[in-house]
Amino acid sequence: MADLFDTMNNRTMVREFRETPLKKEEKERILESAIRAPTASGSEQWIFVTVDSVVKRNKLYDLLTEAQKVYFSKMLKKPWSNERIDKWLKDAEAGLFKAPFYVAVFVDLRQRFCTIPRIEELWAHQSVAAAIENMLLAATGLGIGGCWFGVPLLMDNDFSDLLGAKREEMQLAGVLGFGYPKEKKSPRHRKKGLNDVVKSI
Ligand SMILES: Cc1cc2nc3c(=O)[nH]c(=O)nc-3n(C[C@H](O)[C@H](O)[C@H](O)COP(=O)(O)O)c2cc1C
Repeated sequence: MADLFDTMNNRTMVREFRETPLKKEEKERILESAIRAPTASGSEQWIFVTVDSVVKRNKLYDLLTEAQKVYFSKMLKKPWSNERIDKWLKDAEAGLFKAPFYVAVFVDLRQRFCTIPRIEELWAHQSVAAAIENMLLAATGLGIGGCWFGVPLLMDNDFSDLLGAKREEMQLAGVLGFGYPKEKKSPRHRKKGLNDVVKSI
């Protein structure tokens, strides 16, 4: 098991995976790490939907590609040109985003404990983000690659339908893909250093 600081420093999003399935114990360790995350007021307002079956995984992969396309063409202030998106789609056909194991993460607000709904929802999403990072770090420590996909939020109705989630009960927070990396990836460079983002008062 890798040292915690090595794990944090080496973690990077992996988007291309080998087809080899993950072992049951590896999946369990990743999921166990999720529920060890801090959770506002100890409320554990989260649900993790695991996607193993080939049929569902393929459908999820198709939706992920579609959602990423929506992101490039409609969400960015400087949208990608059609040619650039087509080139990306061609590369994506080689299996970008195709993972042997997906985990969809939902905020579960069926049981509320707060008098201020806006803050409660924010806390629930922050707790879920901590769970997601725990899973990514656990995977890295196990030599497994992972990617956090936020683009499903652009098509959350389609994703919720596929994942069997009732929208009035569960809010989609993100989808994670996990698998053994196709190739070793170096951690991504940060544009801002500590001097840019830390203010001492
Ligand atoms: C909330 C959130 C949403 C993200 N959504 C996507 C996504 O939809 N597709 C994708 O390819 N990467 C996604 N990423 C990964 C980021 O692009 C990545 O974290 C960033 O480029 C920094 O790279 P690193 O994590 O490898 O250091 C997301 C990351 C976060 C935190």
